[in-house]
Amino acid sequence: MCGIIGYTGHRPAVPVVIEGLRRLEYRGYDSAGVGFVQGRELHILRAAGKLRQLENKLASCGTFLATSAIGHTRWATHGAPTEANAHPHKAFRGGVCLVHNGIFENYAEHKQILQGKGCVFSSETDTEVLVNLVADERVPGVSLLEAFALALRKAQGAYAVALMDQDEPDVLYAARHSAPLLLGIGRGENYVASDIPAFLPYTRDVVFLEDGEIVRITPASWQIFSLADLMPVSKSAQRIDWDMQSAQKDGFRHFMLKEIFEQPRAIAECMAGRTDASRTAVRIPEMDALPVPSRLRIIACGTSFHAGLWILPLLEEWAGIPTNVEIASEFRYRKPLLAPGETTLVISQSGETADTLAALRIARERHSPVIGLCNVVGSSIARETDAVIFTQAGPEISVASTKALCSQMLVLLLMALYWGQRQNSLPKGLAPEALRALDGLPAQLETALPVLRTEARALAWQHASARSMFFLGRGQSYPLALEGALKVKELSYIHAEGYAAGEMKHGPIALIEPDFPSFFLAPHDALFAKSRSNLEEVQARRGPVVVLTNSPKPGLHLDARQAWIIPDAWGPLKGFFFLPALQLFSYEAATYLGKDVDQPRNLAKSVTVE
Ligand code: M6R
Repeated sequence: MCGIIGYTGHRPAVPVVIEGLRRLEYRGYDSAGVGFVQGRELHILRAAGKLRQLENKLASCGTFLATSAIGHTRWATHGAPTEANAHPHKAFRGGVCLVHNGIFENYAEHKQILQGKGCVFSSETDTEVLVNLVADERVPGVSLLEAFALALRKAQGAYAVALMDQDEPDVLYAARHSAPLLLGIGRGENYVASDIPAFLPYTRDVVFLEDGEIVRITPASWQIFSLADLMPVSKSAQRIDWDMQSAQKDGFRHFMLKEIFEQPRAIAECMAGRTDASRTAVRIPEMDALPVPSRLRIIACGTSFHAGLWILPLLEEWAGIPTNVEIASEFRYRKPLLAPGETTLVISQSGETADTLAALRIARERHSPVIGLCNVVGSSIARETDAVIFTQAGPEISVASTKALCSQMLVLLLMALYWGQRQNSLPKGLAPEALRALDGLPAQLETALPVLRTEARALAWQHASARSMFFLGRGQSYPLALEGALKVKELSYIHAEGYAAGEMKHGPIALIEPDFPSFFLAPHDALFAKSRSNLEEVQARRGPVVVLTNSPKPGLHLDARQAWIIPDAWGPLKGFFFLPALQLFSYEAATYLGKDVDQPRNLAKSVTVE
């Protein structure tokens, strides 16, 4: 949510920054801007809308002499997404400008004080107050680093900020608190950014900043200080192994489609090293030091929350662990009771989701061991947990989460088997059977995906004009139904509701009418007969129904008006085919309706505000 990049080096900085912002577009934004010093003068260009609008403005200015710049894509919080509210913001006095990701909670009180000192504001943002606080602190004898630190110490809330000054054009300052920010270390050039893809074409050497750290970079140096006392902090760079190709579209029209088709590889990579040589047992060395939980509380948001719901029955059935699953934004504002020995598992693709991070901290304060399941190495959640397991799905760029969920489901399945092994609670032969089935899964999915896509497209074209849809399922198909509905909402802007099929008769069935389609998930599992009855209840109300089910077998047949036959698989692995079917349906519906698939309106990839 919001993207920051700062560059100082030997290249023309503005094109580097614009290109970096483009690679951060996935984070979601509604305006953009850039600040640079040229001819000893600070220039700021901003535009509402997409980067193209900003580039149109830049086309008429010569920017090639500037070798340092800061840029920003803004996702509006305080004030509408207008040019005046876009970042960078410049101080009323002096030549300092600043970009900011996050929320400066006590900005109103400081704005009043600054106005009392004669400061005039030209935007509605909290950010403009912050840059003016920096300028206000910068009195003779106080360096810019000190003034920046003094201002940040007054700011409550979450932030990642980058700052530059026309009097020190080659120097950039940056700091973070509860919002992502990292350094990219090059040769004769350095970067600050919200995420690695911003500078990936130039360097893979990264320094992850912690909360309460402030940095000063020049083309030839980088220094980190503690915000509290400006004492130097010693850190070294890590080389990350992502390549640019895996962060690009690879010939697919959208990142979302590419990422759906990457799921077979994500499964294979996620499995790597997580079984013994004979493929009979699961190995998760990261968890060996932790006791098997006597109770487990899973906390997450959005799609990651659905992963938690999906695994719940298997954690109870296979591993005998009483489990509950909670939405992080609800958990963090109660006074939760955590039983002694209760373990917390936080699930987050980005590892930066503000609510999940806050929930993690609450759980730790209450002495619950916390395990993180993340995709992004070096993310805040990954660093703050007692043990972290990486999904190894590679960078997920599209705002809509797809391969991340697939890899989360896979690791969670392995965790249920792993804890079941340690508890001796697994039915005999189950682990080898599951692992054999998992071995074949990537190849089966690879074959299935193009077929599913063709089928999804036909169905999407048929149903994309509906104003509302239901996605219904039971057992492990219920969270997949929730996920199907979430994807349709976020990508197509069609109202879609995911519901537990057995709950329909307790109210929602009243909505069924001839133009209200229901997508019914009825795999051949233990609940098939129950799902069949629920399906009949809906069909009897003359609602259009599409049943996603497996190929009919004796005793496993249902009378569906429209059936979508999904490839079958062993036990819970069925979900790994139903999931991409739903993802592809939502993708095809959104492209048919001409929506912005990779950057749906109002959404951000990484939700770093609460
Ligand atoms: O990075 P996280 O997994 O913590 O993100 C949580 C949600 O914001 C995320 O899953 C969101 O619901 C998806 N982008 C929806 O496709």
